[in-house]
Amino acid sequence: MGSKIELAVGDACDLDTIADRQEYDVVMCCGVLVHLDQDAATAAVRAMLAHTKGLLGIITWAHPRFDNAQLQHSYVRPDDLGFVHNPDQMVSAGGGRVVFRAWTRPSEIARYPRNPPSFTIARPGNTISPRVDEAGVSSRATAL
Ligand SMILES: C[S@@+](CC[C@H](N)C(=O)[O-])C[C@H]1O[C@@H](n2cnc3c(N)ncnc32)[C@H](O)[C@@H]1O
Repeated sequence: MGSKIELAVGDACDLDTIADRQEYDVVMCCGVLVHLDQDAATAAVRAMLAHTKGLLGIITWAHPRFDNAQLQHSYVRPDDLGFVHNPDQMVSAGGGRVVFRAWTRPSEIARYPRNPPSFTIARPGNTISPRVDEAGVSSRATAL
């Protein structure tokens, strides 16, 4: 039986070239943004939203003390020079809206001593449409 999966390798900053005009129900970005500076990560999130029909999931590192949504600028971790971002800001700049988010609180960091996660789920478009949300977010979020 053939597979419908197509694999492609490339730089997240070249997503428009890699994905061409494809749109996907779900786009998942796990761990990649920590390698990109604020401008590159913002451009990558914008490009991912442009190729998302349903939900975009972003897993990146939580800031150790502040909720990532409070960050004015991306923070560089001194130990490994990885970037800690504000995904909410990037989704907003990319024309999307956040429908779910979770930040690892300092009290929970013992569970993730190395890379505490920050989770963001977003939808393309910043116009709230309750009918679409009720039908779409709940069913697709469950599938994630
Ligand atoms: C923390 S790992 C996460 C790997 C995988 N997504 C996972 O969840 O297990 C980060 C990955 O991002 C890749 N990466 C770094 N810079 C990238 C870029 N500009 N475009 C695409 N991937 C990149 C690295 O090669 C590495 O495999």
